[in-house]
Amino acid sequence: MTPNDLDALLRETRTFAPSEEFRRQANYNDESIYEEAAHNPEGYWAKQAENITWFHEFESVCRWDPPHAQWFIGGKLNAAYNCVDRHTLTHRKNKAAIIWEGEPGDSRVLTYDMLRREVDKAAHMLTELGVKKGDRVTIYLPMVPELPVAMLACAKIGAMHSVVFGGFSAQSLKDRILDAGSKLLITADGGWRRGKVIPLKQNADEAVEGTPIEKVVVVKRIGEAAQAGMNPTRDVWWHELMENAPTKPFPAEPVDAEDYLFLLYTSGTTGKPKGIVHSTGGYLVGVNTSMRTVFDLKDDDVFFCTADIGWITGHTYIVYGPLSAGATVVMYEGSPDYPDRDRYWAIVEKYGATILYTAPTSIRMFMKWGPQYVEKHDLSTLRLLGSVGEPINPEAWMWYHKYVGQERCPIVDTWWQTETGCAMIAPLPGIVTTKPGSATKAVPGISVDIFDDDGNPVPPGHGGNLVITKPWPSMLRTVWGDDERFRKTYFGKFEGIYLPGDGAYRDQDGYYWIVGRLDDVINVSGHRIGTAEVESSLVAHPAVAEAAVIGRAHEVKGQAITAFVILKEGHTGSDDLVAELKQFVVEQIGAMARPEEIIFTADLPKTRSGKIMRRLLRDIAEGRVVGDTTTLADPAVVEQLKSQYKDQE
Ligand code: WT7
Repeated sequence: MTPNDLDALLRETRTFAPSEEFRRQANYNDESIYEEAAHNPEGYWAKQAENITWFHEFESVCRWDPPHAQWFIGGKLNAAYNCVDRHTLTHRKNKAAIIWEGEPGDSRVLTYDMLRREVDKAAHMLTELGVKKGDRVTIYLPMVPELPVAMLACAKIGAMHSVVFGGFSAQSLKDRILDAGSKLLITADGGWRRGKVIPLKQNADEAVEGTPIEKVVVVKRIGEAAQAGMNPTRDVWWHELMENAPTKPFPAEPVDAEDYLFLLYTSGTTGKPKGIVHSTGGYLVGVNTSMRTVFDLKDDDVFFCTADIGWITGHTYIVYGPLSAGATVVMYEGSPDYPDRDRYWAIVEKYGATILYTAPTSIRMFMKWGPQYVEKHDLSTLRLLGSVGEPINPEAWMWYHKYVGQERCPIVDTWWQTETGCAMIAPLPGIVTTKPGSATKAVPGISVDIFDDDGNPVPPGHGGNLVITKPWPSMLRTVWGDDERFRKTYFGKFEGIYLPGDGAYRDQDGYYWIVGRLDDVINVSGHRIGTAEVESSLVAHPAVAEAAVIGRAHEVKGQAITAFVILKEGHTGSDDLVAELKQFVVEQIGAMARPEEIIFTADLPKTRSGKIMRRLLRDIAEGRVVGDTTTLADPAVVEQLKSQYKDQE
């Protein structure tokens, strides 16, 4: 989102109060929950923690030694036990836990009892492969049931999983394996995407070279067409090991509330991705609570989250949130336009989804395709809609409301991050009147504010740095192997105050309007990509001397990557070189980092101290009047760039 859009947001005056019908059935319909939680956050969280099964009760709720928080101290639990085993002891035993649909149209339903058996077999299998409590297991899988099974099997043992999104390249996978120090990799012979095979195994083969990986477990998803060779000393088939694994229950390892549950990499302002570390107790209490509060979850809900489990949204709202709450989740393997553009709606209808959680970028794509795909299907089971990943523009919000929600379903716009673990700013749908484009206000138990650069809260009607002023259970515990980076990135600007890196505005009603990142992070289709990551990938190409990367506003993706490139002496820009550089970035990082456009230039706008002024590059790429250039070392550069941009566009 660009600063221009803020003006549009501020003109937004439509409001949508929960219907009487929704309010009446909602888990929370009394505003007093906000005050109660604000008055005694620890008491609120301790009460929410009663929804988790503890093997040993915690002795105190929170210890805050900024920037380090501990929650539910002394408590012992197991995340997989909470997501699976305990439900098999109730009426949920034969309830569908995961309804999975493959892209080619195959499907599989795992009841809680079936899921328990799969997870236990997988935990035995991993144990036999030498995985122990505290180890890291890297998982590079498509959206197949084996993915949540593998994650939960790690959790059952007390090992950490590090899931790497299947869209990442071999190089990115390698970097993440090395950083985590994993000895085991779980992958597949491939994945399906728009009817084509994603060569996960080939990428994995390339990635594990020179890493501590000793064994690679391979899920057979594709079969014949995969052409994935097996390395006889290193690779083993998942299904063969599972067939031979003991069928007896695997006892859940009681871990400390503060023991780490998983590691998930996300982009920051430097070239090196950060391994975000989540604890067990706090994370589980946080995500479980938000199912009841933000998503108003009931026992008969069918929860369809369209994210990939390779991102935090999938970790939290396909695996740990819904399963810890004993819900039925729908998990879909493939693309929304395969075989046709109505696939999501066909899935909603087929399984009777009641809650749909998707991203603004998808909604904008549906808008472009037109409402006829939605209208083809019976969506009358839907009762609540969610949005996540980037600011939702009011126009997309209204379309979602009208065509998908049929003016009946409340929309929860949920602001959060990999680091926060679960939704932080979002309406409770039975209480809060929504405004299109605003994530409304902090959920109960969370304290947010907006600070100016000096750390003073700004009054209503102003914007600034979004901050979280108190610790919360599902906050990240550290950056893997780099606690100093954790401290500096999130607590370096304001002491003891968490800085998400987003800009926000608060209106006269106290509603928050998230404007976008304030740092050098781009949000492409709801995926975070660091400008420095793309820049360092570009300069690794032999023809490139220097590169500056920005995110410019894009109709569907929210932001698109534009790269300004200075070539080395002896190289000239051409369409072929543009194509080659784009492909180079894809191979280095992954398809989501492919620059939308590459502009060759002789110079870049820099301050006298040599810092690239990305703000000006954004102005050029978005065709705006270029802002203040007085701090530039050479103001003429901007004029040259502007004409080059026009020529090459
Ligand atoms: C960044 C976090 C949280 C899961 C998906 C992305 C942006 C996320 C919203 C929203 C405005 C949003 C922020 C945030 N963001 N949700 N509802 N409204 N912005 O997780 O990859 O960690 O990215 O996504 O900029 O900082 P992530």
